[in-house]
Amino acid sequence: MSHIIEVEGLTKTFKGLKAVNNVSLFAEEGRITGMIGPNGAGKSTTFNMICGYYPPTSGRIRFRGQDITGKRAYEFADMGIARTFQIMKPLGNLSVLDNVASSAFFGRHKAKNITQAREIAEGILEFTGLAQKRNVLARSMGTPDQKRLEMARALATKPDMLFLDEVMAGLNPAETETAIDLIRRINSQGVTIFLIEHIMKAVVSLCEKVVVLHHGEKIAEGTPEQVMNDPYVMEVYLGVKKNA
Ligand SMILES: Nc1ncnc2c1ncn2[C@@H]1O[C@H](COP(=O)(O)OP(=O)(O)OP(=O)(O)O)[C@@H](O)[C@H]1O
Ligand SMILES: [Mg+2]
Repeated sequence: MSHIIEVEGLTKTFKGLKAVNNVSLFAEEGRITGMIGPNGAGKSTTFNMICGYYPPTSGRIRFRGQDITGKRAYEFADMGIARTFQIMKPLGNLSVLDNVASSAFFGRHKAKNITQAREIAEGILEFTGLAQKRNVLARSMGTPDQKRLEMARALATKPDMLFLDEVMAGLNPAETETAIDLIRRINSQGVTIFLIEHIMKAVVSLCEKVVVLHHGEKIAEGTPEQVMNDPYVMEVYLGVKKNA
């Protein structure tokens, strides 16, 4: 099984605070890998470094064996890497259709003009269940639709690898089921997925492997079942001591 992403000794310091400390991990091609950990554990910071949002203080990132540390965000789209943001970043004054169409100019679709970009976007709106909202302004939508729009915009770059930062936060159980189904459908099209999620039900049903962060450090990794039964994970993540 090949490792599409490999990270070695990733560290990020913000004004003396080590938000991420010496984290090494990998994601297997074609699979869904999860990342969990308490608030402030360094999950989003790890994704931000891997996706080129800002450079690591130290450490290396490899994509398909190639060192991509220090590359810029737009270069990631060209390589086939896309991500969503925990705090949604829609182009608020544009319609849902044009939010997705704008992404189709980047990455590997590289639309030649707006007509072609909108054609690509229409297909993605169908796939993500947003077609009926194509003319709605992004900023007027609620959280569930904005989360879905984040995924649709990422997909419009035609990624091989998709990073999802809490795309199920704020969703009710029915909306969570729909999101789980969408993530599974994206994966079955051959897209490798790495997702940060607090909703354990989603992690258990989607992820073959989970990485656990705490205070910026990787404290466990394994199947969802393995990490949830790890005494240290239970202690720091769930706040309980096993057999205590
Ligand atoms: N740009 C920044 N400048 C300064 N400190 C930051 C910055 N981004 C994150 N931090 C700090 O780094 C630590 C890790 O934050 P991060 O957002 O990565 O956590 P997280 O695991 O994603 O948490 P959550 O589950 O709440 O999203 C926190 O202490 C946070 O306050
Ligand atoms: Mg976060």
